[in-house]
Amino acid sequence: MPKKYYIETYGCQMNVADSEVVASVLSDAGYAPAGSIGEADIILVNTCSIRENAEQRVWGRLDLFRAQKKKRPQVIVGVLGCMAERLKEKLLESDKMVDMVVGPDAYRDLPMLVETAVSGHAAVNVLLSREETYADISPVRLESNGVSAFISIMRGCNNMCAYCVVPYVRGAERSRDPETIVQEAREVFEQGYREVTLLGQNVNSYSWAGSTPIGFAGLLEMVASVDPGLRVRYSTSHPKDLSDDVLEVMAGHDNICRHIHLPVQSGSSSVLKRMNRKYTREWYLDRITSINRILPGCALSTDIIAGFCGETEEEHQETLSLMREVGFDFAYMFKYSERPGTKASRHMKDDVPDEVKTRRLNEIIALQNELSSVSKKADIGRILEVLVEGPAKKPIGAMMGRTSGNKVVVFQASDVRPGEYVQVKVTRATSATLIGNLV
Ligand code: SAH
Ligand code: SF4
Ligand code: F3S
Repeated sequence: MPKKYYIETYGCQMNVADSEVVASVLSDAGYAPAGSIGEADIILVNTCSIRENAEQRVWGRLDLFRAQKKKRPQVIVGVLGCMAERLKEKLLESDKMVDMVVGPDAYRDLPMLVETAVSGHAAVNVLLSREETYADISPVRLESNGVSAFISIMRGCNNMCAYCVVPYVRGAERSRDPETIVQEAREVFEQGYREVTLLGQNVNSYSWAGSTPIGFAGLLEMVASVDPGLRVRYSTSHPKDLSDDVLEVMAGHDNICRHIHLPVQSGSSSVLKRMNRKYTREWYLDRITSINRILPGCALSTDIIAGFCGETEEEHQETLSLMREVGFDFAYMFKYSERPGTKASRHMKDDVPDEVKTRRLNEIIALQNELSSVSKKADIGRILEVLVEGPAKKPIGAMMGRTSGNKVVVFQASDVRPGEYVQVKVTRATSATLIGNLV
């Protein structure tokens, strides 16, 4: 009887992809997925350190796992990913009864680490690698809708944004062999998937030095050429590196989704400088102009941080004005959270009072709600191509899918299947979705 593992995932899409690598490594070693925590012999939590509250959530989960361990002492609890990397032995020394601590570049070692833990020894591997990309590992798609798959194209980050913990917990940037990426895209297409999202912290700096060197534009072209019926998305673009050649490749392939996630962080050049983002407000707006020229109608989303070190009221206003100027379709918005070890924590003061951060964040959220609503209303009356993902949560009997611009569309249909492309005429919009009818 193979031992059963249960894995819970927090953090970004890259962590979702990593958990699929973990599942693959464990399956190859003879372990099987458990249906629930109660059934699992090994409980794993793949963690995120990006903000303090992300870590708090995981500490809370560890309390629950400890309760399991008290009931069933033979259960192995493992902390994986970014928090494992950042907190290392602290996790083992805590009172949380953690048996295994495994950093993001050590997943091939998991079977061995599990054996160590079973024998009653602390199992730790938090070594970061300069080469590991898990290129040859075929991820086991967990909790997948069978339609969209994540493909990791690179790991780590070299950018050193002042607020960000990622370079410390994920290590140096390295790109994955393009042949293995294209191969994985072909495989998922053959399995019936119809959408792949290419993942990296800064996909625009993808670089493979083979006999013919390949950058991100070249890679995008290769993946888009797998099949015109395979939608291609990517995330995340860094504004300093998003070049027109990528936009031209997008324009040349209808199956590359008309959506760019371009985190701006702040609309103020002085804040961007303190953040070490290496672009200005003007540079960012110039990238938006290029996108609108080369890809008219392309959806735009962003990430924004409220209340970074030294942020003045004027600087905050510049963020609001940039948001209006661009008219983002969607945004992830955060309060600045100081992370130990980062440049900002070592050299800058986290001096914006919490209530000011909260107020600024609320202003940013309120404005984005307006902008998102304008963006959705603009779609009313349009006929949009939708890739069907599955049944909608509500109403009963309705189906849901996504547009090329990444908007969720809900519509009534009895005979469409996940993975089909349908044309939907949008009739109205709620705060989160478009509602329409098949045409
Ligand atoms: N590589 C991506 C971002 C990855 S982290 C990029 O460069 O855009 C995702 C988002 O979390 C970031 O875009 C940023 O908005 C937010 N973030 C990162 N560190 C943060 C911190 N210390 N406090 C608050 N938000 C943070
Ligand atoms: Fe963090 Fe900046 Fe790297 Fe993004 S580009 S992961 S924000 S250091
Ligand atoms: Fe979090 Fe690590 Fe991703 S810190 S955002 S899980 S790279």
